[in-house]
Amino acid sequence: CGTVLFVTYLLGSIPTGYTAVKILKGIDIREVGSGSTGATNVLRALGKGPGAFVLLVDCLKGVLSILLVHWFFEFATSQNLIPQTINFGWEPWMVTLAGMCAVLGHSKSIFLGFTGGKSVATSLGILLAMNWQVGLATFGVFAIVVAISRIVSLSSCFGAVAVSILMVLFHQPLAYVLFGVAGGIYVIIRHRSNIQRILAGTEPKLGQKSIEIN
Ligand code: G3P
Repeated sequence: CGTVLFVTYLLGSIPTGYTAVKILKGIDIREVGSGSTGATNVLRALGKGPGAFVLLVDCLKGVLSILLVHWFFEFATSQNLIPQTINFGWEPWMVTLAGMCAVLGHSKSIFLGFTGGKSVATSLGILLAMNWQVGLATFGVFAIVVAISRIVSLSSCFGAVAVSILMVLFHQPLAYVLFGVAGGIYVIIRHRSNIQRILAGTEPKLGQKSIEIN
């Protein structure tokens, strides 16, 4: 179990945004814009195509982390390493722990001296793999707030608050509800500098490329 969790942390740690900007522009993404290695900052630094690519890969890191846990349980059960009677009780908790490890890896990457992004895209991937309806509904909340405000960070925070409510509404296991609560709080904490800028009215809107907010 420990190995699976470490692998999910490593998966989350893969520095997609940092690598893309380093290769395509030769700069350290952490020194431009918000300093985040996430898709929103890549969009600022490189434009829509690379931004979408990083969003997709970071999202897939989350999906894969959860699939890994399911594959592990399938294998362990087939080999009689875990008795089938308790398997189904453990699995959601293991999924939640793996999700948290991937979230942590994305924002505190072992490959980037424990810096990184704000874990939004990776969390979306995790949610889609936990329960696709909750994932889609969370994305819907995010998309509605983006359409109204044009501020990605504000939309991410609304999405983060919505997750635990949606987990309850969709009758998800307690472990997943707790992922919603803990992950939601963590993502909001990661946005504290954005929140300060939102309150000060200086947070850049979508499409404002050249703004320096570091
Ligand atoms: O997904 C991260 C987003 O919510 C905020 O990104 O670069 O504006 O801090 P950024």
